[in-house]
Amino acid sequence: MTTALHGPVFRADPHAVYRAMREEAPVHRVELAGGVEAWLVTRYDDAKAALTDPRLVKGVLHPPRRMDLPDDVHSSITHHMLSADPPDHTRLRRLVSATFTPRRIEALRPRITALTAELLDAMDGLGAADLIETFAFPLPIAVISELLGVPMEDREAFRSWSNLVTSPGDRRAEAPRAVIALHGYVQELITQKRKAPGDDLLSAMIAVREGGDRLTEEELSSTVFLLLIAGHETTVNLIANGVYRLLSERDRWEELRARRELLPSAIEEFLRFDSPVQTSTVRISAQPLTIGGVDIPAGRVVMVSLLSANMDGARYPDPEQLRLSRTGTPHLAFGHGIHYCLGAPLARLEAQIAFTGLLDRFPNLRMTVSPAELTWRPGTLIHGLEALPVTGLTS
Ligand code: HEM
Repeated sequence: MTTALHGPVFRADPHAVYRAMREEAPVHRVELAGGVEAWLVTRYDDAKAALTDPRLVKGVLHPPRRMDLPDDVHSSITHHMLSADPPDHTRLRRLVSATFTPRRIEALRPRITALTAELLDAMDGLGAADLIETFAFPLPIAVISELLGVPMEDREAFRSWSNLVTSPGDRRAEAPRAVIALHGYVQELITQKRKAPGDDLLSAMIAVREGGDRLTEEELSSTVFLLLIAGHETTVNLIANGVYRLLSERDRWEELRARRELLPSAIEEFLRFDSPVQTSTVRISAQPLTIGGVDIPAGRVVMVSLLSANMDGARYPDPEQLRLSRTGTPHLAFGHGIHYCLGAPLARLEAQIAFTGLLDRFPNLRMTVSPAELTWRPGTLIHGLEALPVTGLTS
């Protein structure tokens, strides 16, 4: 028996589907949207152990290509740390970490604040709007453009290609063309930055040298793609899911307005409660192994449900209650082990600025529909709403 992680029941309430799975067994055979079968780990302790298990690997993985792309394009978007095992992973992560430093992230604070203010200005007076379209979606892509040093005049094109690359559903057919266009643009941007380096992450990644080592062209371009994909929709949904929970229990919105010191722990609670990355990226069992007493043969696709692990009652008292001051077991929303999210400090900073902006500017923010009318997006990677219609957009 396999459990379907798509379809109307799942999209109405993914938490309920995972709750039932978690209670039933620690590992489930699931069918992914394309019909691929995977073994899904659902409980917290097993999830944490699986994410650090060296028998679960990336490198032997040759998944069917999701898109029909020329070989050179495919190669220059996939040579990044998230698809690598040690020692390649260690090397790539070390080189990129040398440039993606806490100081560089902190230096973005004033620009993120200004970009947030621009979006809030544009929303002010609209009356009603989709908070995802007008705010949660555009902010992270603007921040990544800033981080990478995409020139102002190219940002609109960069944004529209990125949207097509990451968008699911009906526009998926356009994705390969957008990847090719974005790939061409990234090559051009690398050439420009090589000639005239700026004070940005891409210039720093081009320049980085560590013990005689450096990033190759393929690795540079692949890392740009990784940052774009890993940093965009994830952050969109941290913002949107958090606003959704605050507005669906509006006392929590008022609580956070009154007690801003709760914002850091509230952000961690949003990450736990509605983990934007629903399941880890796939791993393959390089050898047979046992997880939670379940034997998994070699060569199987294994995934960890971060969303489910973070709701495990064995680790979190009253897991389905949103507690803005919750402390205790850290969540797994940024993963665990060697692939732990490199962008976590940036995501937290963006969320801090975004929530502060919304709470300050639109104290009367409300949803215009009931939670039962909202739908979660299809797919097992990202956990986020299709839309979040709100009103009260007047300062
Ligand atoms: C890896 C979550 C934002 C860059 C990961 C992983 C998770 C995650 C779960 C590990 C996946 C796995 O092990 O299969 C999130 C969430 C975010 C977020 C929930 C926002 C709320 C960002 C941002 C960036 C970023 C803003 C950078 C701009 C990365 C990179 C990796 C990664 C480079 C790969 C690390 C490695 O393989 O060593 N992220 N991420 N992420 N994330 Fe994030």
